[in-house]
Amino acid sequence: MSNYEYKAQIIDAKSYDYIRKLVYQHSRINLGDDKLDLVSARLNKRLRETKILTIPDYIDYLNANEGEMENLIDIISTNHTFFFREIQHFEFMQTHALPELHNYAKNQGGSEFRLWCAASSSGDEPYSLAIQLQEYFKNKNFNWDIQATDISNRILAKAQNAVFPEERLKEVRPDLLRSYFQKGFGAQEGFYRVKEELRQKVTFSRLNLLQPQYPFQKPFHVIFCRNVMIYFDRQTQEELVNHLSNILVPGGYLMIGHSESLTGIKHPLKSVKPAIYQKI
Ligand SMILES: C[S@@+](CC[C@H](N)C(=O)[O-])C[C@H]1O[C@@H](n2cnc3c(N)ncnc32)[C@H](O)[C@@H]1O
Repeated sequence: MSNYEYKAQIIDAKSYDYIRKLVYQHSRINLGDDKLDLVSARLNKRLRETKILTIPDYIDYLNANEGEMENLIDIISTNHTFFFREIQHFEFMQTHALPELHNYAKNQGGSEFRLWCAASSSGDEPYSLAIQLQEYFKNKNFNWDIQATDISNRILAKAQNAVFPEERLKEVRPDLLRSYFQKGFGAQEGFYRVKEELRQKVTFSRLNLLQPQYPFQKPFHVIFCRNVMIYFDRQTQEELVNHLSNILVPGGYLMIGHSESLTGIKHPLKSVKPAIYQKI
């Protein structure tokens, strides 16, 4: 192993087919024929990390090491995200979803607003929502809670650490940046950490969106499931949207990514605006 010399590998058709089936089986991420170069590039990264020479050797390693499957899903999935991404959803929360659902909950005798961020990646999305909910509910004597889940333990650990480079915080208003983040100095220059009070309000846990049962006891007022469905095939998307609908309160909202679409999918939700659906 000490003589390991890395040489970039291009995945062969048989290995690609094998990897793609395995990834689908474990995450339902649907790798099309056009993803060969992307998968090659990402596997090469893993070859370097594990000091394995060829992709067929890596497949043997994968089959012999149970824990490696999670690393494979990790390198294949895309974690791109940033604070207040797709701002239209946050605007809709402010003008419609929050006032409506706050009233609805109060009329039901409730005192709690529950939100699920269902593919939370490195935490940018749930912390953006935590800032919004904290600002909205601050003088209202009302509890709120955010569950944030992802399939990848590696990305969840990053999210819990809550340190972000400033380029991912460009959409955060300066006053909110001051209120909710600690600025890094010295070696941490250019990075910001979410303050403890806000970190405590978000509960992170691992969850595969396609698992048969979700572990939540109570339905949610809002679910953000953005920029993950794009990796699933139609049948999987349909299964997922119906599963998510079942754990929304009546009148609750599902937000999906603006590049995603539920056209052609059977589901019980009403389309309210682009990428916004409501349970009726
Ligand atoms: C592109 S990020 C989206 C982040 C955020 N929702 C946003 O819109 O900015 C997609 C995330 O989905 C996660 N993911 C992929 N397949 C999943 C699955 N089957 N169950 C749960 N999360 C999954 C990935 O690990 C990744 O962090």
